[in-house]
Amino acid sequence: MNVLIVYGTTEGQTGKIAARTATHIRERGHQVELLDSAALASDLKLGHFDAFVIAASVHQEHHQETVTNFVFAHHELLNTKPAALISVSLSAALQDQKTEAQKYVDRFVSVTGWRPRMTLLLGGALRFTKYDYFQEQFVKFVVMKTGDPGPERDHEFTDWNALANFADRFLETAG
Ligand SMILES: Cc1cc2nc3c(=O)[nH]c(=O)nc-3n(C[C@H](O)[C@H](O)[C@H](O)COP(=O)(O)O)c2cc1C
Repeated sequence: MNVLIVYGTTEGQTGKIAARTATHIRERGHQVELLDSAALASDLKLGHFDAFVIAASVHQEHHQETVTNFVFAHHELLNTKPAALISVSLSAALQDQKTEAQKYVDRFVSVTGWRPRMTLLLGGALRFTKYDYFQEQFVKFVVMKTGDPGPERDHEFTDWNALANFADRFLETAG
């Protein structure tokens, strides 16, 4: 199969997730084109792809606008093809916030008109050493909903096994 992966990333974790997904799918014998939504050619042709993976991360409750715009522009095609969504957020990694993580996806689906055949809610990463003051405050008080400062260490929450299983299930249904 010829698979297109389009991703949006703000601090890099979804870029890493998309690259890992590409490697995994290539190892299963398929061709993969991996594109950053922030640098898409305006004349990008999608007709020769058999399957699509869209990966985006959540900031202030929204996925990257570049991904939202891409998916909105192509939702009719995506609805006719095997196409999966990987939504990366902190909420997806927090036990009591799974409904939040699903809410971000529900909004994305209603705004874009694309109904992904499969969706993975995947934990992202915290990079406190790279955040500015606003980013740090938002993550601590709004996303983590905790008043206490907590450990401000960088931490990766991504479940790489869940990602590999998801990619395999997607290839099975798409194949
Ligand atoms: C400023 C900021 C806002 C964020 N807002 C949310 C949010 O509203 N909900 C959530 O679940 N995660 C939120 N996150 C966590 C990110 O989704 C997580 O760090 C993810 O790994 C970022 O992926 P990226 O590195 O590909 O951009 C936020 C992170 C930052 C830095």
